[in-house]
Amino acid sequence: MNGIATGRIVILGAGLAALTAALRLAPRPVLLISPDPLGQGASSAWAQGGVAAAMDPADSPEAHAEDTLNAGAGLVDPEIAHLVTRAARAQILDLTEIGTPFDRTMEGGYVLSREAAHRAARVVRVRGDQAGAEITRALVAAVRATPSVQVLEGFLATGLEIADGRVSGVRLMRESGSAETLLRAPAILLAAGGSGGLYAVTTNPPRIAGQAIGMAARAGAVIADPEFVQFHPTAMDVGEDPAPLATEALRGEGAHLVNNAGERFMLAVHPDAELAPRDIVARAVYLQSQAGQRPALDTRGCLGARVLTDFPAVAGACTRAGIDPTSELIPVAAAAHYHMGGVETDRNGRTSLPGLWACGEAASTGLHGANRLASNGLLEALVFAGRCAESIAATVPVASTGAVVLPDLSPRPLPDPALVARLRRAMTAGAGVVRDAVGLTQCLHEIEAVEAGQPDCEVLRNMTATARLIATAALARRESRGAHFRSDFRETQGAVGRRTRMTLVEAMAL
Ligand code: SIN
Repeated sequence: MNGIATGRIVILGAGLAALTAALRLAPRPVLLISPDPLGQGASSAWAQGGVAAAMDPADSPEAHAEDTLNAGAGLVDPEIAHLVTRAARAQILDLTEIGTPFDRTMEGGYVLSREAAHRAARVVRVRGDQAGAEITRALVAAVRATPSVQVLEGFLATGLEIADGRVSGVRLMRESGSAETLLRAPAILLAAGGSGGLYAVTTNPPRIAGQAIGMAARAGAVIADPEFVQFHPTAMDVGEDPAPLATEALRGEGAHLVNNAGERFMLAVHPDAELAPRDIVARAVYLQSQAGQRPALDTRGCLGARVLTDFPAVAGACTRAGIDPTSELIPVAAAAHYHMGGVETDRNGRTSLPGLWACGEAASTGLHGANRLASNGLLEALVFAGRCAESIAATVPVASTGAVVLPDLSPRPLPDPALVARLRRAMTAGAGVVRDAVGLTQCLHEIEAVEAGQPDCEVLRNMTATARLIATAALARRESRGAHFRSDFRETQGAVGRRTRMTLVEAMAL
């Protein structure tokens, strides 16, 4: 493939991590490539929680790091936890500076809310559940006003090109399906999201289905902790795909989980009931669903009509579903929400492949371990986007370069929707909230069958590569830890765990 060359740093993705890195690299010429119009289609724009940061004088980055370590169930890298939590305050101030309208107190401080497994109120928010949307809006405006950033919308990355042992370019196609073209670049930053769409029920936007991790894996990158997929306990079970999120902040405000017998089932599961660690609540909700007990969230007593004004995203999804949350229950289900694993990086965002950096949900930095602490996802994206930008700037010489114009590309098919649906069913059944050896083995057979169904479709192969890594690592981990629960190996083997590191070739040989 001949393709074209650019001196620009190429950033793949359009969420918080990608936008932040583009700004931090300015005035270096950057090409930001997004399948969707900027500001749409990335998971971070849908994030309802907010950004965790020790902003209260009574709180501290050390306490935040300790909570991160505890939630991560023995797999968090302590150095990374301290590095990220120490950088949190500055991130909030920077986002405020570029116009993010965080909720403020009468005295001018930040309104902080409490989420599960945080010992203190430390989540900075915007109008209840609008943090992701508003931070994205502010970053998009800043990127659009930065002349060094060229934005290319409507293109999807399908593969990485390797030359002389380093990543030398990326293959691109139109998001609507087309032949590929090769774009050679001095450095590539992968910030294109996680893998929720590999599962039948997910809170992630439609295109976020493991393509970024799979693409790096197929190029030979080391993938860390792929088996750790976080399931959110309260996606709204209202027949929408993706499933709308009912933010954990509702439970922080006192919302209860009940089943169709009216029983508040979390009371019997954990002393913290609805505010138990996310994996525990997700498993309880999943088991209620499996038993036909129809779990639901009750916001009536604690919030009343306030749910409509204080949680506009939740209220909007209720309206679409014909539910009045002031008088009715909100049906919920556990949904794939965040991938803790991903492309392994060092503390500067460098992957095992020279020329490739990664940040955001596509990366595995060691911050989240086996169970991400709520609202640490956006924080990690912000901190590591900055570190990647610094590392790239220190490594890659500046080149003067014009705008990139991609050639016309002839139409080609996208993944067969029936195969994608089969993959999603297989992952949910075999590599979902509760796993065992029989289900995982069956899931791996299904992944092979899906691959064989459309072997020349690069997008599907990227998805199945990630699916294979998740299922293989889950089968190899013969214990339960954090979000990875094996019904045939229920115990956790030691307080401190062993991180998984594997290439796709190694996964295929297991
Ligand atoms: C939520 O608002 O419940 C999600 C927050 C997060 O995933 O960090």
